[in-house]
Amino acid sequence: MGQKISPVKGTRDVLPGDTYLKKDDPWIRIGHLHLIEQAARELFPLYGYREARTPVLERTALFARGIGDATDIVAKEMYTFEDRDGTQVSMRPEGTASLVRAYVEHAVQQQEPDTKWWYAGPMFRHERQQRGRYRQFTQIGVEALGSPGPRVDAEQIEMLDRWLRALGIPFEMHVNTLGDALCRPAYRTALQEYLRAHSAELCEDCRKRTETNPIRVLDCKNPGCQEVAAGAPKMDRFLCAPCREHFEGLRAALGRLGVAHIVDPKLVRGLDYYTRTTYEAIATAGLGSQSTVAGGGRYDGLVRELGGGDVPGIGFAAGVERLALLVAQAGRELAVRPLVFFAPLGPEEEARADALALELRKAGIPAEVSFRRSNPGNQMKRADALGARFALVLGDAELKSGRAKLKELKSGAEHEVDLSDLPGALRRLQP
Ligand code: HAM
Repeated sequence: MGQKISPVKGTRDVLPGDTYLKKDDPWIRIGHLHLIEQAARELFPLYGYREARTPVLERTALFARGIGDATDIVAKEMYTFEDRDGTQVSMRPEGTASLVRAYVEHAVQQQEPDTKWWYAGPMFRHERQQRGRYRQFTQIGVEALGSPGPRVDAEQIEMLDRWLRALGIPFEMHVNTLGDALCRPAYRTALQEYLRAHSAELCEDCRKRTETNPIRVLDCKNPGCQEVAAGAPKMDRFLCAPCREHFEGLRAALGRLGVAHIVDPKLVRGLDYYTRTTYEAIATAGLGSQSTVAGGGRYDGLVRELGGGDVPGIGFAAGVERLALLVAQAGRELAVRPLVFFAPLGPEEEARADALALELRKAGIPAEVSFRRSNPGNQMKRADALGARFALVLGDAELKSGRAKLKELKSGAEHEVDLSDLPGALRRLQP
């Protein structure tokens, strides 16, 4: 016998219990992964977002330049290798850099002043594996290019808020501003000076970050670093007038749209491209340390950095696996079950059961037929194990009379039905 081959660490199999068949159908219920995706597919276009798909493989330079060499993602977490032709390629750790590359590549700016795209797909980061954190995970994200905000920022945050609410997720929306190329350098310098003075209290990573990416020290999880961060200078004091006005405009627009939010000066995000608005939806229960279900922000310099024009942008991405954990906890029973299980007792009955099951499926009603011959008692056990609501035993008498008993497995109640219109009979019985 061959040896079992285990999956790559940090990757997950998605089994049918997590996927779906159809929404809003009284017969077939939807699984949480598709519930999440379908809600996005229906909601995002209402705000003008259209789906785009980009490759999983990109040139490493795209992420090095787009996300930033000094970020953890690029410095430590990318799956990078040399392609057969010698090109350095990486499996995408996120979607924004790729979407902006596509935007520049296809000269979209020349075709439309405003662009709104959404996307879904697998992302790869070599992170320490834990609940809600994987090496292959799925993001659903959006990017809006062309408007400097803040109204588009608020519109997008409201859309995320609406999506998460539709999924029944308990969360808080955190927002912050990181300033821009004009005011952030002075803040960076002040922060760096402060951190250098406290370097003995910082973890080794943050001592390095002090020189390469000091703002990231603010969201280090290490208790010592958090204490230092608590006393650090705040961006707020350094904001230039246009950045301050932008942030005030964002908060006012969020107020008009009715989006409850918390201003969180520690919300600095892990990617270098952010300017001004940053935001995160943080689960208030059910996820432990990996509680950020979605994060995003404005990146007004990224299009230019990647060879395009001066086009501002803002987006977010949500982690589908984290959402799925929460949707599952919200107690939605979503697995697909056959409504009727047919137990035919002989060869003629089997042929009739196959035909009846086909008729039900054509009518959109899930059905199963037994492929094993055994006594009615064992057939009932099997129907129960499959989670069917009804079992229907087909014997000689049923074939002759054209009538049979639909047995409710939970209560044992029986309903005599006419086999010539089984879909109709089921519709009358199903609430
Ligand atoms: P991010 O914060 O790196 O942002 O990732 C967004 C979300 O993806 C996180 O909030 C989390 O839910 C999920 N996620 C990230 N890493 C993992 C992981 N290892 N396992 C499971 N889930 C994970 C971005 O990726 C930006 N591109 C968002 C954005 C779009 N900013 C502007 N536009």
